[in-house]
Amino acid sequence: MNLAVACAFGDHPPVRRAFALILPIVLGGCLPPRSAEVRVVVRAAAVRPALEALEVARPVEAATSESDPRDAPLLTGLRSAVIQGGAKSVGSTSVVFKVPLDGGIAAAFKPETRKHGSRWRAEVAAYRLSRALGLDNVPVTVPRAAKMAALHASTRSSTMGRLLRDQCLPRADGKLPGAMIAWIPGLARLPLEDDPMWTAWHEWVAIEPPARSIELHVPDALAKKLREARVLAPQVSSLVAFDHLTGNRDRWSGHNVLVDVTRTRLVYLDHNLAFDAKLDVAATHKRRMVLQRVERFSRALVASARKLTRASLVDAFGADDLGAPLLTDAQIDAVLTRRDELVAYVDELIAKHGEPRVLSFD
Ligand SMILES: Nc1ncnc2c1ncn2[C@@H]1O[C@H](COP(=O)(O)OP(=O)(O)O)[C@@H](O)[C@H]1O
Ligand SMILES: [Mg+2]
Repeated sequence: MNLAVACAFGDHPPVRRAFALILPIVLGGCLPPRSAEVRVVVRAAAVRPALEALEVARPVEAATSESDPRDAPLLTGLRSAVIQGGAKSVGSTSVVFKVPLDGGIAAAFKPETRKHGSRWRAEVAAYRLSRALGLDNVPVTVPRAAKMAALHASTRSSTMGRLLRDQCLPRADGKLPGAMIAWIPGLARLPLEDDPMWTAWHEWVAIEPPARSIELHVPDALAKKLREARVLAPQVSSLVAFDHLTGNRDRWSGHNVLVDVTRTRLVYLDHNLAFDAKLDVAATHKRRMVLQRVERFSRALVASARKLTRASLVDAFGADDLGAPLLTDAQIDAVLTRRDELVAYVDELIAKHGEPRVLSFD
């Protein structure tokens, strides 16, 4: 990606540096590819008023998982950039607002609500765990308490106004805690849970796919689409492994498998129904059933999962915006239990088929 961004700055070096980093990601994906070449051209003046309006972010105890330099500009922007006009409600089952932020970025804000309490923490935890595992499919996400007054002022939508009034739970200081998630433009639903996709992706991640692929049983145009989507096989495998680790029970509900504008990249979104310390039997059964459809995994992901320890997870999940642990001890223990299940399943496959065939994705 080559991006030349001409922007303007006052003479405040730290803020200037932050914006030089934020602006190139105006159309932000989860992460630019490692080879991304970002060129920033800096001029003076126009951005100054916005910079002066920046909220002063409290110093944050960085989680160790926030160490990827490619995430740094968005982490800064999501934490501290001022909320702009034009916010609206975009949630279906939970309360989610699309919120434009200063510096040309936007976020999905999932706040604390009556119905879902502080489930927004799971959105932050999913981002942090993804980076600890070396995955870059989860959008950059931070904990942030936004001023209720700023949120009300940012919208003309009566739906958003009503949700703010009736559903959201601000703290005593008038700020609404939640997860600020980098907005990914141009997402499209990928119907992995519907046939023929459901059968197709099972073939992609099987050690011995059937002799007659589903592609031979569908009309030509559809077969072409399935062939094109096959490039997603490693990301589908890692999505299933990741969902097992997080204990996500909402992936296969119809609208939560998404691809970005390139259609070659899965975006792992919507994790507020993950990280339960205790899962109900039906949800656990379904997750295991989906996991057992996968027989080929990413070598790097499995290696990272093996290395997770209680201490490394405590550091990776880090703290919320008030400095309290993001997840409880019981939630972290549950991640380790599911990790053990995942690794035991992969090891069984390796014993049966050999490591090269099982760990056949990078
Ligand atoms: N970070 C984001 N970037 C782009 N679109 C998003 C983002 N977060 C949410 N959305 C859009 O909002 C919809 C609802 O968000 P989601 O996290 O799935 O909440 P819900 O719990 O209501 O299903 C998504 O299906 C997607 O279309
Ligand atoms: Mg959803």
